[in-house]
Amino acid sequence: MTLSQLYHIENYIDTFAPGHYARVMAALDFRTGQTVALKVLRPEHLHPEGDMRWEYRAFGNEAHILARLADSPHIVRLLDCGFLESSQEAPDGGAAVSLGTDAAAFGKELAEQARRGWRPYLALENLPRTDNLFYLMQPNSRSLRRRLPGEEGIALALQFASLLHQAHAQRIVYLDHKLEHVYWDGQTLRVIDFNSSQQLSTETARPAEYMKDLHNLCVGVLYPLFTGMSPRKTTLLPQPGGLEALEARYQDITELDFMMEPTLSQALQALLQRGAAMQIESVEAFTQALQQVAALHGRDFPGHYTTPASRSARDKMRQGLKLLREGEGRLRQARAVMDGISEDLEDELRRLVKGVSEMLNHRVIP
Ligand SMILES: Nc1ncnc2c1ncn2[C@@H]1O[C@H](COP(=O)(O)OP(=O)(O)O)[C@@H](O)[C@H]1O
Ligand SMILES: [Mg+2]
Repeated sequence: MTLSQLYHIENYIDTFAPGHYARVMAALDFRTGQTVALKVLRPEHLHPEGDMRWEYRAFGNEAHILARLADSPHIVRLLDCGFLESSQEAPDGGAAVSLGTDAAAFGKELAEQARRGWRPYLALENLPRTDNLFYLMQPNSRSLRRRLPGEEGIALALQFASLLHQAHAQRIVYLDHKLEHVYWDGQTLRVIDFNSSQQLSTETARPAEYMKDLHNLCVGVLYPLFTGMSPRKTTLLPQPGGLEALEARYQDITELDFMMEPTLSQALQALLQRGAAMQIESVEAFTQALQQVAALHGRDFPGHYTTPASRSARDKMRQGLKLLREGEGRLRQARAVMDGISEDLEDELRRLVKGVSEMLNHRVIP
C-alpha cells in the first residue's frame, strides 16, 4: 500500500497552535471521501537506532485512550491509524500501512515499526479551526480580552465533567488541559490530544491523580475561558507541550485571581478556586458542586432546582446568545462576501470591511 493510495495530503492545520509530538495536516481520505486531520509524529522524534522515544509511544497511548472513550460525544473521533515510511515532515509519498480503528493492533506494531524507522499516524475527525477556543479567544490586540458568557461556559463545564466522569470510571486521566485542545461551537464540547493522558492501573489509580486532573481542568481550561486570562496572570498565550512541560505547567498554581473579572458569579469563582487548591476530591464531587452553581444560573437538576425567576432569566439569556451568535455569523458572512471586489468599489468596501472587522474584534462571544 502507498500513502498516496490512502490520502491526499493538503495543508498544515496546526500552525496557530503547534504541538510538541506531531504535525497535523488536512488530508483527503480516498476511501471515504472525507477530509481528516492527519496527525503524524514529527520526524525529529524518530530514534536513529530504531528505539522508541516516549513521543513515539505516546501515539500508541493516544490510540488506546481514544478507543476506550469512543462512545463519549465529547472527544474527537479516531477514524484510522497506521504507519508511514516517508520521513518528510509533511509526508510526500512512500509506503504506508493502515490499520483502521484497531488501536490494539496499532499498539502491537509500534515497536516493530519504530525499528524500521516508519512513523505512526492517527487520522482524526477534522474539527473546524473556528471552533478552537484558543483560536477564538486570543485577541488581536493586547487591550482586548474575550471570555465565554457564563451560560455557555457552564454548559461546557458540565460536558467536560461528563467526559471526565466517563474517563475516571475507566481509570483514565486527561491531564493536558489547555484551550488549544478544546473545541466549542456554542453547543457541544469536543476535546483533542490524548497522548499525554494516562491509563492508570489499579495500583497507580490514587485519588491524587484524579484531583490533579480536576485541578488542571479548573486552572487550564475553565479559568481562562471564564476570564480570558491565562492563570499566570498574562494574556492568553500558547502553552508549552511535552511531558515535563505538562507536569510543570499548572502545578504551582493554587490560587486564582478574579480581580479582572468582578462580574463573574461568586459561586463559580469559589468553585474554580477550590479546584485550583486541589480541594475537590472526585469528579462526582466536582459535578455536584458545578450543578449547584448551575442551579444559581437558572438550570434544574434532580435534587436541586432553580427559582422561576432564574429559570426565565436563563431562557432570555439563551435567546439573546442565540441571536448574538447568528448576528456574528452574519457579520462574518458579510465580510467574506465583500472581500475581493473590483477596484472602483474598493475604497468603500475597504471602509465597510474594516468596520465589520472592528465590530467582530469587539464581539461579546468568542
Ligand atoms: N482533529 C483535529 N482537527 C483539527 N485540528 C487539529 C486536530 N487535531 C489537532 N489539531 C491541530 O493540531 C495541533 C496539534 O495537535 P495535538 O493533537 O495537540 O498534537 P501534540 O500531541 O503534538 O500536542 C492542535 O493544537 C490543533 O491546532
Ligand atoms: Mg497538543
